[in-house]
Amino acid sequence: MLCRLSDGRKTLEPCSIIIFGASGDLTARKLIPALYHLCKEKQMPPAFRIIGFARRENTDASWRSELRTALDQFSRTKPVDDQVWQQFSQHLFYCQGDLTAAAAYAKLEKQLAAFGSEPLRRNLLFYLATSPSQFGQVVEQLHGAGLLHKDGGEAWQRVVVEKPFGHDLESARQLNRELTRYACEQQVFRIDHYLGKETVQNILMFRFANATFERLWNRESIDHFQITVSEKLGVGQRGGYYEEAGALRDMVQNHLLQVLALVSMEPPVSLEAESIRDEKVKLLKSIRPLHPEAVASQVLRGQYVAGMVDGEARPAYRQEPKVRPDSNVETYVALKLFIDNWRWSGVPFYLRTGKNLPLSISEVRIQFRPTPHVLFAAQCGPKLDPNALTLRLQPNEGISLRFNGKVPGTSLAVRPVRMHFSYDAEFGAYTPEAYERLLLDAMAGDATLFIRRDEVETAWQIVDGIRQAWEGKPLSDREFYPAGVWGPKAADDLLARDGHVWREPLVVK
Ligand code: BG6
Repeated sequence: MLCRLSDGRKTLEPCSIIIFGASGDLTARKLIPALYHLCKEKQMPPAFRIIGFARRENTDASWRSELRTALDQFSRTKPVDDQVWQQFSQHLFYCQGDLTAAAAYAKLEKQLAAFGSEPLRRNLLFYLATSPSQFGQVVEQLHGAGLLHKDGGEAWQRVVVEKPFGHDLESARQLNRELTRYACEQQVFRIDHYLGKETVQNILMFRFANATFERLWNRESIDHFQITVSEKLGVGQRGGYYEEAGALRDMVQNHLLQVLALVSMEPPVSLEAESIRDEKVKLLKSIRPLHPEAVASQVLRGQYVAGMVDGEARPAYRQEPKVRPDSNVETYVALKLFIDNWRWSGVPFYLRTGKNLPLSISEVRIQFRPTPHVLFAAQCGPKLDPNALTLRLQPNEGISLRFNGKVPGTSLAVRPVRMHFSYDAEFGAYTPEAYERLLLDAMAGDATLFIRRDEVETAWQIVDGIRQAWEGKPLSDREFYPAGVWGPKAADDLLARDGHVWREPLVVK
């Protein structure tokens, strides 16, 4: 029986979406393909307009044709459906203007007014695909042009902002202050695209819609967690950005801590946005702060040097475009965190992420406590593998359970076997892109999958402690790793000290 937790389809009011920074990569690669698919799936509001706002000269027609070329390349379903595109592209408009100039916003206002219908000119989703340094200015100008109000009356206006949301706690607070001068917190939708992934959303369903595992979800039964988000790609053309970010800010502050919060938070009182976000914040606040001595023993960074990934030669990070030749920026981080609450006291959470690693994989491995070994000690000695549950977030989305079974035959040999659940096999190939879900929710005003102000600030607090301990300390020889291996050797020591090993991520065909 299919049990819908809500109405399944969201009721959407007519609205206009205005994308600032429309000539950037994100618009072409993610936003337009996502909106096209929502249109294809008939999930867009009954009436809508999309305006691309950018400085570059363009016309509606030339912008549409650029986007069509990009869609042919980036669409998750191919070929692009011409009929759907014809219909969808009629909703795309371009507004050429300078983000800093009041005149550009007056022009935007006029363009919206020309849509005629009241909801299309007053229900407005502003998508800020710009540098965070421009957020403050954009909302101020929007407010000045009469397009953004704290109290929209019958109509609504929302502001969606991309990561990175600041580069430390102080800058995140500053951004929050700037945004909430002209919009209230409920109007601000901070994106972490990991939350838009089906498998990440499924973490809560898996935990709280099933009785079996939640009973074991505590320090009595679980030995430790391993959260891996590894990428085969190097930094490539993003050196300029990465030099400012590094893996800690780029991945840990947001994606990894979000996944950690979802696998370890307490059940929310309801599935309402605020209830879920309350629990996530509570969890993040329970992470034991990392003082400099703790950073030295619990956090490890690394940077790739030249190597091979999948038979392809990769340059060292320091040789990538726009990277300083003596850069100390980390392309790999592994860390051990403790959550000081009743449920998780004493259970280590190991997190790791890096570029130029052997596989692109995101997974959560839950390692259960070992059996007392009395029965099988003679056959298996200390080798009897403890049970493990793996949430395969991407790719080959699914869940696997490893347990021990008897090897058929006359001897009493025991070895690990696995049960796999696969999204593809169960639900077919339809897996919407993260941005489809996020854009849909932003239009519906559902903030569940967006990061709240206190959440982003708490995550920065954790990360800032680590950064401060690293400051002024160049990378040591032990912290470099050749492209194509699972990070620096020292990452293994982090677990070995506790008698654990990183499990090779699970590849299920
Ligand atoms: C982004 C980071 O937020 O996430 C990138 O800036 C990273 O560096 C990307 O490659 C990973 O996302 P996904 O969805 O490919 O796992």
